[in-house]
Amino acid sequence: MEALPDQMQIARLAAGGCFSRALATAARLGIADLMDGGALSHHVLAERTGSDPDVLLRLLQVLALGGVVEHDGNGAFAMTEAFAALRSDHPRSLRNFCILTAETYDDAFGALPHTVRTGESGFRQVFGVPLYEYLEADPEAGRIFDGAMSELARPVVAALVRRHDFSSVNTVVDVGGGDGTTLAGILAAHEHLRGVCVDRPGVCARAGEALRASAGPRIGERVTFHPADIFEEVPAGGDRYLLKNVLHDWPPERCERVLASIGRAMRRTAEAREPGLAPPRLLVLEPLPDQESDAAHVLFRMVMCGKDAGGFGEGDLRGLLQRSGFVPVRVERLAGGHHVFECVPDGAGQG
Ligand SMILES: C[S@@+](CC[C@H](N)C(=O)[O-])C[C@H]1O[C@@H](n2cnc3c(N)ncnc32)[C@H](O)[C@@H]1O
Repeated sequence: MEALPDQMQIARLAAGGCFSRALATAARLGIADLMDGGALSHHVLAERTGSDPDVLLRLLQVLALGGVVEHDGNGAFAMTEAFAALRSDHPRSLRNFCILTAETYDDAFGALPHTVRTGESGFRQVFGVPLYEYLEADPEAGRIFDGAMSELARPVVAALVRRHDFSSVNTVVDVGGGDGTTLAGILAAHEHLRGVCVDRPGVCARAGEALRASAGPRIGERVTFHPADIFEEVPAGGDRYLLKNVLHDWPPERCERVLASIGRAMRRTAEAREPGLAPPRLLVLEPLPDQESDAAHVLFRMVMCGKDAGGFGEGDLRGLLQRSGFVPVRVERLAGGHHVFECVPDGAGQG
């Protein structure tokens, strides 16, 4: 029976998971890296990836349907230019993001009916623990997650350093800063800066050496990793505190706790300073969904973290900051879509 056009639409959407898993498998096998030197036959690729050649051929054909690879007419396949960012050494690589999204996150979406019915996290339903507990217990999954966050952070930090003046700042503390990519980007643009990256112990343990290897010793040596639970403790001593893509993972009461930790650290910093020196400031960076086209992003956060997380817009974030003792003195939208809220502690003056 031949499918009618309306059936084709349904079939295409329903089969989306097959294509996303095919993409993740290609990313895991490192097919884009292997093809960097040119087209390869499925036999050669099977040998280099330890795969079954017959199944690998079908995988490549499915990837060709999605425009990821193309057949060269002589029995070999090559990456298309449009998918070059699947390479791990590509400056805009999304290899880890592909694996994270099409595997772990997609597994969590298996419990979408549960989230739709109850408003609870599908991730927790599938994995039995919240996202960050799962990542702490599985270092390989943690590495993929840190890599994915780093890939997404690079263009945002490039836009941030173009817009934000760090010239009067000495130390930047990145709260929930992951593997230090954001700090590395800021420090690369400002030789005089030092950075403190605060994150979970497992993330900090693997990040220091990795950052020195990826960003080079001149940057790596200026970043300190500070393992801490940011709901309880954030170190004092920063002139700028950063909180990027952290709040959207949590319901409002947990967001208020992180902001309270930062507020305490900023107060301790201000008290230890010479009178007259400018008090520290907080930069909150969030990709605030403000249109219906962002619905997939919001639904995604609900499945990962429950319905109270991630759906907030600009007004909600302003309210949250105000309740937590922060006054936004400048709000700006960066190229690429993140909002930056530059805040001072309530009562600190806004000069
Ligand atoms: C969505 S990621 C954002 C990472 C980074 N700020 C960025 O924008 O790329 C959230 C980060 O918060 C960290 N995190 C979550 N819970 C934490 C906790 N209780 N204490 C410290 N860090 C935590 C995670 O490990 C992760 O690196």
